[in-house]
Amino acid sequence: MISGRRSLLTPCWPRLRSEKKIMVRTLYWEDGKLYLLDQTLLPWEEKYVACTDYRQAVAAIREMQVRGAPAIGVAAAYAVAMAGQQRLRGEDVSPDQVLADLTASRPTAVNLFWALERMQRCWEKAMGLGLAEQAHVLLAEAERIHREDLEANRAIGRYGAELVPPGASVLTICNAGSLATSGYGTALGVVRAAADRGLCVWACETRPRLQGARLTTWELQQDDIPVTLITDNMAGYLMQQGRVDLVITGADRIAANGDVANKIGTYSLAVLAAYHRLPFYVAAPLSTFDRTAASAEDIPIEERNPEEVRRVGREALVPATIPVYNPAFDPTPAALVTAFITERGVIYPPYPEKLAQVLS
Ligand code: MRU
Repeated sequence: MISGRRSLLTPCWPRLRSEKKIMVRTLYWEDGKLYLLDQTLLPWEEKYVACTDYRQAVAAIREMQVRGAPAIGVAAAYAVAMAGQQRLRGEDVSPDQVLADLTASRPTAVNLFWALERMQRCWEKAMGLGLAEQAHVLLAEAERIHREDLEANRAIGRYGAELVPPGASVLTICNAGSLATSGYGTALGVVRAAADRGLCVWACETRPRLQGARLTTWELQQDDIPVTLITDNMAGYLMQQGRVDLVITGADRIAANGDVANKIGTYSLAVLAAYHRLPFYVAAPLSTFDRTAASAEDIPIEERNPEEVRRVGREALVPATIPVYNPAFDPTPAALVTAFITERGVIYPPYPEKLAQVLS
C-alpha cells in the first residue's frame, strides 16, 4: 500500500501470481498467410482471421479486428509483405495503391505510418530485384518490425516496473497489452513485469468499443493478474477513496512537446490523477513518438461510426435519429504526464528537451 491511503475494503486486492500462462498470439505469419486474432469477438470467441490479400488486412484494421497502435503498425507491415506475395502470384497489385489503402485505414496511431514508411523504404530499395526477392525482403522487414516491437515492450516493462510499488493499485484504460502489440504490451507490459511483487489493476471499461472490459480483463485473467472492471465514470470516485496508486496508459501518438493522443477518456483520467496527486504514466515504444507533430494540435483525432455509441454490442440503446459525437481518441497535455516509459528508459519533464535527446 502506498502512503496509507487505500481502504482495506477494496475488491481490487493485490495477490502474488501463482503461475505464468503462455502469452496470447495477437498476430502471426504462417505459410504465406497473416493470422489476426479477431478482437471484435473477444472475450467470447478466440478466432483468427486468415488474410491472403492485403485488402483483408486493411479491412481488419479499419474494423478493429486488429487494434492498438503497435499492433496496427505490425499488421500493416505484414500487409505490405502480403502485397509482395500477391505480385509474385501474378496479381495486379500496385505498391502505391497498397500504401495508400493502408495509410487510409486509421488516422491517429502513428505506428501505422511509421511502419509503412519503413516498408516503403525497403520496397523502394528492392525494386531492382525480381518479384521473389522483393517478396522475401518485404517479409523479412515485416518480421523485423514484429520482433523489435516485442523486444521494445519487454524493455518498457522492465523500466516501468521500477515505478510500481509492491501491492500497488494500477488504473488503466482501453487495452495497451499483448492484444494491442506484438505481445507483452506497453501499459500492461509494465503491469506484467511488476506483477510478481503483487499488484492489482482497475480496468476502465472504455466505452464505446469496450476494449477495457472485453480485452484487458480477458488478457490479465489469462495471466493470473488480479483485475477488477469498472465503468469509465467510476475512476474519480476510486481516486477520491484512495484506492488508486497510479495510472498507466498507452498512447497512439505522442507529439514532440509531449502531448499524448490516446483512447477517449484518457484526458479525463489525467486530469483526475493531477487533482488527486497521483502519478500518470504513459508507456509507449519510440515508434509512437511523432517528431513531425509539434503538439496535439497536429494530431488527427479519428471520429468513428455513430452506431458505436448508439449501441452496446448489437443492442440498440437509442433510435438512429439521435445525434451522436464519437471521437475515438483525446489529447492529453504534456503537463499532465508524470513520465513516459519507453524502451530506452523513463523520460521525465521538461519534455521537449528530454524527448528530443532520446529521439535523436
Ligand atoms: O481504438 P484502439 O483500440 O486501437 O485504441 C487503442 C488505444 O488507445 C491504446 O491505448 C493505444 O493504441 C496504445 S496500445 C499499446
